[in-house]
Amino acid sequence: MSQGSALLRPVTLGDLKLPNRVVMAPTTRCRPPELRVLYYARRASAGLIVTEGTLVSDQPVPFPQVPGLFTPEQVAGWRRVTDLVHTLGGRIMVQLWHAGLTPPDAMTPSEIATAVADYRSAAANALRAGFDGVEIAANGTYLIAQSLNPRLNHRTDAYRVGPRLLLDVIDTVLTTGCRVGVRLSPYWCATDSTPACPDYIPDGETLSRYDDVVRELDSLSYLHLRGPAAFELDAFARYRKLFDGFLVANNGFALDSAEAAVESGIADAVSFARHFIANPDLVTRFALDQELSVADRAFNYVGGPVGYV
Ligand SMILES: Cc1cc2nc3c(=O)[nH]c(=O)nc-3n(C[C@H](O)[C@H](O)[C@H](O)COP(=O)(O)O)c2cc1C
Repeated sequence: MSQGSALLRPVTLGDLKLPNRVVMAPTTRCRPPELRVLYYARRASAGLIVTEGTLVSDQPVPFPQVPGLFTPEQVAGWRRVTDLVHTLGGRIMVQLWHAGLTPPDAMTPSEIATAVADYRSAAANALRAGFDGVEIAANGTYLIAQSLNPRLNHRTDAYRVGPRLLLDVIDTVLTTGCRVGVRLSPYWCATDSTPACPDYIPDGETLSRYDDVVRELDSLSYLHLRGPAAFELDAFARYRKLFDGFLVANNGFALDSAEAAVESGIADAVSFARHFIANPDLVTRFALDQELSVADRAFNYVGGPVGYV
């Protein structure tokens, strides 16, 4: 890649200036807070860092050592991260995560209202912690995704609530004055009972619900789209037509495909998870077209500094 390449071209995300379009995708790593400062600081040359999923309230999740943003100690811990990333010239948003209501059919109006209020206070805490904004995780299998994706149909009660949940969360988070991005995964194929399937194509009902949601996202700083399990650039073009704002594409990108996505205008930036795990200096490696290290998956969710920082 030449240094004049599309991925290294600076861009503005609202009033935020990104020096390049290489975004660090959220990666849950299950490590203690004291290691996180070094982990994120080493990746400060990313155009934008999006942190690992960070809980908006005290709720059970199937991973250990997941950070939150609902206590003063958590705010202080994150402040150390954001201060150093900023000192090093970086930008960092926090991904806000609500794992779901328990039991899954507990979607009563008061519980939904509590969940929405938890997003608001976590976003206010994100500002106190020095983040440049928040990304609402509406991807994967958790609360908001359950309200959007019929494939997660073992939680039909959440699906009944529909896009209103996400739109309410966006509205309430915007009242804090935060920059707000949303992460969606319309092509998400795994459920509790079925593994990820590269051949999965969402049905018309699913695509049409996501189309409707994406059309409503004008007020966002950015849309972060995770594409199909089997990499396919064209899948993003559908959303480019529906969303005028800043679009970050993700899932399975390599240098050439990311360059093509930005060059063709399908995406404004591309995010990388696995490559950033193994290559803290990913931007430099891209700039020099250097070979990338490959992450050892055994350290994805376990361990200390080894396989992490
Ligand atoms: C170890 C690991 C942890 C992840 N944690 C999160 C997370 O906290 N939130 C999220 O939205 N996606 C998470 N993801 C998904 C990634 O952000 C990304 O969508 C996926 O890895 C595909 O991108 P890639 O091909 O660049 O790795 C995680 C992925 C990995 C490998």
